[in-house]
Amino acid sequence: MIVCHCKAVSDRQVRAAVRAGASRRGAVARACGAGTVCGGCRPVIDEIVSAETVSGAGAGTDDAAGVRLAPSR
Ligand code: FES
Repeated sequence: MIVCHCKAVSDRQVRAAVRAGASRRGAVARACGAGTVCGGCRPVIDEIVSAETVSGAGAGTDDAAGVRLAPSR
């Protein structure tokens, strides 16, 4: 899906930029150009950065699949 129509950048490209280390919108812009023209896509870029950052860190979950495991005894 195209996220940034001005630069023809897809959500996959934005996710790839985040996974490569772009942890903020500005870094994504430098990596792939998304968000650098009209700015209309910036909220979506922010959502993707947030989602990728949380899922990549495994926040709130106990394993890579995002499944919360019962505490062991
Ligand atoms: S839609 Fe991304 S800068 Fe315009």
